Amino acid sequence: MPKIIIAVDGYSSCGKSTTAKGVAAYLGYAYIDTGAMYRAVTLYFMTQHVSLTNPKEVAKALENIKIDFRRNPETGRNETYLNGLNVEDEIRKLYIANWVSEVSAVSEVRRAMVAQQQRMGKARGVVMDGRDIGTVVFPDAELKVFMTAEPEIRAERRQIELLAKGEMLDLDDILQNIKKRDHIDTTRSDSPLRQASDAVSVDTSFMTLDEQIDLVTQLADERISRS
Ligand code: DC
Repeated sequence: MPKIIIAVDGYSSCGKSTTAKGVAAYLGYAYIDTGAMYRAVTLYFMTQHVSLTNPKEVAKALENIKIDFRRNPETGRNETYLNGLNVEDEIRKLYIANWVSEVSAVSEVRRAMVAQQQRMGKARGVVMDGRDIGTVVFPDAELKVFMTAEPEIRAERRQIELLAKGEMLDLDDILQNIKKRDHIDTTRSDSPLRQASDAVSVDTSFMTLDEQIDLVTQLADERISRS
């Protein structure tokens, strides 16, 4: 059976990661959450007070950052490690979400992350979710999915997710964060979020997660049988 690359791009809180994880589990593929990598860089930059406008500081910081994913044997979940420390919970917090778009708009940061992502997907057999996977990281991916959903619905989903982790936040604050991130992600000069011309567009506003996983799984099966 040939192994393909599946790129799942789109706006935040559209169900990208759950869909990508579900499809990866079905196919026995690796799942790579590229947003977690930008979040880990943001955590490092914030704790080390790295100035985004100082290229030397940014370059030095990037040299000192090592990100990897390790499977938690208890939960079966892949968790994000920054320089050997488990940062999975920390990088999901709102203070990181508030800064990650600024950090991920820095070209040097993108170059370093894209190179690492390309190494991770070299052997194919991966489902990668992010913003620029189908346009920049793997423009030759056999299957590209672009997910969208109404901002209000995405804010509600994010509120439920954060609540499950013990963070109680006002819906309007979350909506503002989502809109701000959408704006920065789509207007940044370096690899802005946009749909690849050959991507399949999926509006998840009124879809359940199971429906999303089923749809992408079907598309993946079709592409694999054609490869
Ligand atoms: O998927 P996420 O919400 O965890 O991503 C966090 C941020 O990282 C998002 O606001 C934009 C950025 N990002 C990016 O620029 N490129 C990617 N491939 C993935 C995420």
